[in-house]
Amino acid sequence: MMGDEKKLYIKTYGCQMNVYDSERMAEAMGAQGYVSTDTPEDADMILLNTCHIREKAAEKVYSELGRFKGLKAARPDLKIGVAGCVAQAEGEEIMRRQPLVDLVVGPQSYHRLPTLEARARQGERAIDTDFPEEDKFEVLKTRPKAARGPTAFLTVQEGCDKFCAFCVVPYTRGAEVSRPVARILAEARDLVERGVREITLLGQNVNAYHGAGPDGDWGLARLIWALNDVDGLERIRFTTSHPNDMDDALIAAHGECEKLMPYLHLPVQSGSDRILKRMNRSHTAEQYLRLIERIRQARPDILMSGDFIVGFPEESDQDFEDTMELVRAVNYGQAFSFKYSTRPGTPAAERALVDPAVADARLQRLQALITQQQRAIQDSMVGRDVQVLFEKPGRLPGQMVGKSQYLHAVHVTGGSPKVGEIHRVRIVESGPNSLAGQLLA
Ligand code: SAH
Ligand code: SF4
Ligand code: F3S
Repeated sequence: MMGDEKKLYIKTYGCQMNVYDSERMAEAMGAQGYVSTDTPEDADMILLNTCHIREKAAEKVYSELGRFKGLKAARPDLKIGVAGCVAQAEGEEIMRRQPLVDLVVGPQSYHRLPTLEARARQGERAIDTDFPEEDKFEVLKTRPKAARGPTAFLTVQEGCDKFCAFCVVPYTRGAEVSRPVARILAEARDLVERGVREITLLGQNVNAYHGAGPDGDWGLARLIWALNDVDGLERIRFTTSHPNDMDDALIAAHGECEKLMPYLHLPVQSGSDRILKRMNRSHTAEQYLRLIERIRQARPDILMSGDFIVGFPEESDQDFEDTMELVRAVNYGQAFSFKYSTRPGTPAAERALVDPAVADARLQRLQALITQQQRAIQDSMVGRDVQVLFEKPGRLPGQMVGKSQYLHAVHVTGGSPKVGEIHRVRIVESGPNSLAGQLLA
């Protein structure tokens, strides 16, 4: 058996769902005798799980592929595959542009990866970017019961029907689909048995979740309440949410469900109603701010996170100032901001661009404001007690690192907490990217 063992190297780009998908692909190939490796040099198969969200993300794939030329020349048996959202968006073009590539597989057909690999071994250049009828999650259910770290992702919903004018996701991931409740609960229990203490529910529009339950469709709040009853599971998170799908039950859950963590990623993209409309976001800045007010009424200490795009076509100075104003009003504990990137095939791709120098300057100002807010909220944790789920040893001897309920990274030295344990920690210091604390109990 050992002699047959082949090695798989996967490099993952993009969002958390790609991380989850890479784990599933590794498991699928595990059933074919592949073990994972961290070094492309000794791999029998290299797989890039790609992201198409911005131009840079997509271009990275081609430059990375170019770097494998030497490896492939030295070992013609090496198979190279491209998976993920670039594969979905431009699979044929990848094949044309890069003759090194043996197979291309889209995000909805990766359960067929073993078949594609077998075809590639026969010398075929195999491509599968279908949106098949069968359920890839069910096909991949037979997974090895290996132990896992204390945190895991679990995809509950995939795809998007919102069609924001800038975004490729509805095209690369397809229409919104929710997995049935029973299958999610079974997967959660399985993860807990393998050592997982915190599960992050994933979906491109996770709060639009409406999966089949025992008595009709369930929303995300009901699913979270059911997970709250899973023994051994200590923490629940979910990402990414759309403001229009934050229903009353989900808001209430933030105040009442003890395992649901006080952190919410709720992208708004812009603070200008004019731009929000052109983005096809179908909510106003005011509606977003009122929503956050209600969420904070339910859970006053919740840490808010968001995403922003600057330099969207026709964004004026005033539009940008409106975004700055909204950021000041919200006070984010964390936020991600991006310069608008034209994506072929999206409605906004036809529109006039903002001067790139202007967009760069706006991005810098926005990022400075966000950093200042992040830092202030982090600094305000000093002297407070938080609950830390320990994930791994730190860089210094005797140091352990974990996450607080607010998703802040916390370093603790001394007291030897174990991976997977949750302890009360007093925060004593705030650094650029993490907090330091003392173990209390
Ligand atoms: N499903 C999530 C996010 C998808 S992509 C949601 O609806 O919020 C993650 C982030 O990338 C988006 O929130 C947006 O801020 C950014 N993004 C998406 N398309 C982009 C583009 N064309 N240019 C720049 N940033 C973009
Ligand atoms: Fe993209 Fe908008 Fe859908 Fe989010 S809601 S995935 S930004 S189209
Ligand atoms: Fe990127 Fe696809 Fe995720 S485009 S952000 S990998 S859904």
